[in-house]
Amino acid sequence: MAPATLAQTRLVHTIPEVRGAVREVRQGGGSVALVPTMGYLHEGHLSLVDRARELADWVAMSIFVNPMQFGPAEDLARYPRDLERDLEMARGRGVDLVFAPRVDEMYPHGEPQVSVVPGALAERMEGAIRPGHFRGVLTVVAKLFGIFHPDVAVFGQKDFQQAALIRRMALDLDQGVRVEVAPIVREPDGLAMSSRNVYLSAEERERARALSRGLERSRALFAAGERDAEALRAALWNALSVPGVEPGYAEVVDALTLEPVRRAAPGAVLLVAARVGRTRLIDNAVLP
Ligand code: PAF
Repeated sequence: MAPATLAQTRLVHTIPEVRGAVREVRQGGGSVALVPTMGYLHEGHLSLVDRARELADWVAMSIFVNPMQFGPAEDLARYPRDLERDLEMARGRGVDLVFAPRVDEMYPHGEPQVSVVPGALAERMEGAIRPGHFRGVLTVVAKLFGIFHPDVAVFGQKDFQQAALIRRMALDLDQGVRVEVAPIVREPDGLAMSSRNVYLSAEERERARALSRGLERSRALFAAGERDAEALRAALWNALSVPGVEPGYAEVVDALTLEPVRRAAPGAVLLVAARVGRTRLIDNAVLP
């Protein structure tokens, strides 16, 4: 496919095109930021672009629905996609380059033989519920780091466990990329922004507020002096007891190890997951 040039945002589909563009930036002395996404952009993604812009001269975004991170019973086929809309939004936010590869550009020989083993941080929560998910995430992010060699890559805090794993991968594999995590962006009623929110019917949308409501209740308890992690966890879990909401997990964990804590201290993280209708939602909050 021939590259298209928008007002400021260049669209490319191949790895050599990315490498050429990055080389030009480097030759001009510029620094490179990458915002990896699976597209169907929302304000949360655009806030990552804003953060990237603060940290580097040139901001690239990848848009790739990565088959390797979806389980066989997951929503790969119906995952929302709209490249035209994404490009408009990326252009509106001044993204310099969008890399939207086809699956065979990223995986020309099918699923790679060599992949990134996530280790202990992936054993619980999302990693336990979605076997193989983080292997797929880390492998594609490692490939994107290898393609762009960015100075910095920006991820959203909504996927807290993912961000922790990527940070750990960059450290353990000496990838030389600064991993930056930007705060969750929420709808006015508290629901964390997610591309998957588009699946929710009006009723489900209302029920989905149970997650952020639980986080608010738990945080309010903490603010009132409660330090027993089980009490905070119970408040979070109980908020999920709403008809039409199927709780997944509610946890209070250490931000670095992701292991459950007994006493909650500032910096510990509340993490929650639930299914609303056919849609799995996750959310979290760092205790202040
Ligand atoms: O968070 C996402 O959108 C994806 O997991 C990521 C990091 C782009 C890898 O496919």
